[in-house]
Amino acid sequence: MQDTLLEPSIVSFERQHIPGGVVLSRAEGWPHRPEDWEMLHTLSEGVVALQDGDVVATALCTPFGDRLVTFNMIIVADSHRGQGLGARLMKALIALAGPRTIQLVATASGYPLYRKMGFVETGRNLQHQGVVSQIPSPSGIASATPADAAAIKALDTANTGLDRAAMWDTLFAVSSVKVIRDGTALLGVAACRDFGRGKVVGPVIAPSADDAKRLISAHLAEHQETFVRIDVPASSGLGEWLETCGLTNVGGGHAMLRGDAPIAASAGAYALASQALG
Ligand SMILES: CC(C)(COP(=O)(O)OP(=O)(O)OC[C@H]1O[C@@H](n2cnc3c(N)ncnc32)[C@H](O)[C@@H]1OP(=O)(O)O)[C@@H](O)C(=O)NCCC(=O)NCCS
Repeated sequence: MQDTLLEPSIVSFERQHIPGGVVLSRAEGWPHRPEDWEMLHTLSEGVVALQDGDVVATALCTPFGDRLVTFNMIIVADSHRGQGLGARLMKALIALAGPRTIQLVATASGYPLYRKMGFVETGRNLQHQGVVSQIPSPSGIASATPADAAAIKALDTANTGLDRAAMWDTLFAVSSVKVIRDGTALLGVAACRDFGRGKVVGPVIAPSADDAKRLISAHLAEHQETFVRIDVPASSGLGEWLETCGLTNVGGGHAMLRGDAPIAASAGAYALASQALG
């Protein structure tokens, strides 16, 4: 029997599968560069479906501590949809996740599949992007130093309920990180890094919406005339203000959860690290 008549085989996602993943995400109109896949691969484990050696589907599982994982980059090639492959990948990822709570940000295309697999919607996210207009540099914002790393991770955990220390270690290596301090206390943080067509701002953790705006503005002021993307929870209330900065709402996603919610209320989380990472 020829390989093409067999069901695609599901194997572990390895670095060698990144070019195949890039082909799938580009076909979907997603902006991820090989470097963006590389970063997600570094932080994640996952599965791919192979047919005749070609990657025809991907799915990644990124752990945040030992209680929660984020699923991302779940893509089935258009030619292979509607044949149960997405569900097979999801079952493989759910097995990888074990008893841990699972979060993800669903596209409209993925939403029905996730509902079927026991995920419930917890909120909406908004994707804003565009070429940044003239933004004045705000006062009271500093650049993070390596000595801030532990306080940034602690602030992140206090506001999200997640242990994202490994993600932050990766972000520190590739991001510009701005902070708000009060004496020796660290009150807010926002990262910005190369991604897709330009830059992505996030995560943003702040004590108030005004502080979040100042942190974001500090990054935007450094990237005028650059294409910038930011994904925010709809509940952040930042949507209208982002439009005035030249960052237009181009859609969004459904935040979904399977299992127990993280303990913190996420009140101070004003922007996602990215749609994939949550
Ligand atoms: C979402 C996606 C991965 C689903 O893959 P798939 O291989 O077509 O899914 P399956 O064939 O395994 O479908 C599993 C079940 O979900 C249902 N389903 C899947 N996509 C659906 C859709 N868009 N609308 C309604 N039902 C859908 C199927 O009918 C099936 O239900 P059944 O078990 O009752 O028959 C695929 O459509 C895709 O890659 N989309 C583009 C990328 C994307 O947006 N990914 C999600 C990122 S969060």
